[in-house]
Amino acid sequence: MKKTVRDIEVADKRVLVRVDFNVPLKDGQVVDDSRIRAALPTIQYLRERGGRVILLSHLGRPKDAPDPALRLDPVALHLAQLLGAPVRKLDELCGPSVEAAVAAMKPGDVLVLENTRFDPREKKNDPSLVEELARLADVYVNDAFSAAHRAHVSTAGLAMKLPAVAGFQMEKELLALEGLLAKPQRPFVVVLGGAKVTDKVKVIDRFLDLADRLLIGGAMALAFLKAQGGEVGASKVEEEGLEAAAAALARASSSRCELSLPTDLVVAEELSESAETKVVAAKAVPAGWMALDIGSRTAALYAEAIAQAGEVFWNGPMGVFELAPFAEGTRAVAEAMAACPGITVVGGGDSVAAVNKFGLAEKMDHVSMGGGASLEYIEGAALPGVEVLADRESE
Ligand code: 3PG
Repeated sequence: MKKTVRDIEVADKRVLVRVDFNVPLKDGQVVDDSRIRAALPTIQYLRERGGRVILLSHLGRPKDAPDPALRLDPVALHLAQLLGAPVRKLDELCGPSVEAAVAAMKPGDVLVLENTRFDPREKKNDPSLVEELARLADVYVNDAFSAAHRAHVSTAGLAMKLPAVAGFQMEKELLALEGLLAKPQRPFVVVLGGAKVTDKVKVIDRFLDLADRLLIGGAMALAFLKAQGGEVGASKVEEEGLEAAAAALARASSSRCELSLPTDLVVAEELSESAETKVVAAKAVPAGWMALDIGSRTAALYAEAIAQAGEVFWNGPMGVFELAPFAEGTRAVAEAMAACPGITVVGGGDSVAAVNKFGLAEKMDHVSMGGGASLEYIEGAALPGVEVLADRESE
């Protein structure tokens, strides 16, 4: 395990904390503040112990230059409300004005620097930016698991210059995923959905080795059904995914893991709130109709498998849950997980949005903030932002 903020002295120290405040904004307001809330325990812990907290984050994907719509001001404002304490936001990431602001900080103060990606050096992990940022602090904390698959200055480079430890959210994410991969409670049920099989080939392979049941839904299920010769009508099927799906099916036949596909599907001729829908057998989607959710029989079967699980991991919605006619499959999975007495872990932006929408996030054992990062971790990739942190055993 990695060292955390608990393992270091923070009183009076300048602590540079990489958080992931990459949150959705609308009309200058934070729409979903889960990631900001996730960073609060670390920020509070450091403040309570007299640390001077300097926060670093990216927001969106600016083109290596300042973009007024992606400034961190609304996020800093929101953070101040959640903390119930003043938060100072600077319009720059580094340089003399930032150095002066840091020098003026008192123990317990919180400062938010500007979007790290406004500086073209961030994504290049440029040593000159590492230098400039490292100068601001005594210690570096990475609490941004969801950005840990990026080898950028703020997520990895800083650890070259400063003592580097994990924050509480990072620790929580690692413990949940490590537990799941190293010693899952059985039966271990994995629910995978979302759009693309090709994005999840390695994840499917990993789970075919590890899980007892793999339940497939969402648009990616259609690639599997088509690979088996099913009629998919006008559904959008990822053609490049067919081969991957066929390979996964072949692997599954010799694996101890049971791979399940939908047996029925909700179909419609158009993707809209008012669309006329019907339920059809999974491999018999009529011409001109699109499959947009798993059917109720499949949802019940999946819910039953989840109810019996010792551990469940879920990534990717079962259908277009944003629209009411196609939300029931995803809701059934979310509700079954909420009721499951086993360990429940949800990972990935869309499935997290779904559990939030259904008001079930509190009922899960762990809701990962990291979509891409959690999948890369599960695939077995070393995450740059995790690798650089000090190991607890080694010192
Ligand atoms: C995310 O939202 O997945 C993380 O914040 C990483 O963002 P990125 O994909 O733009 O690097």
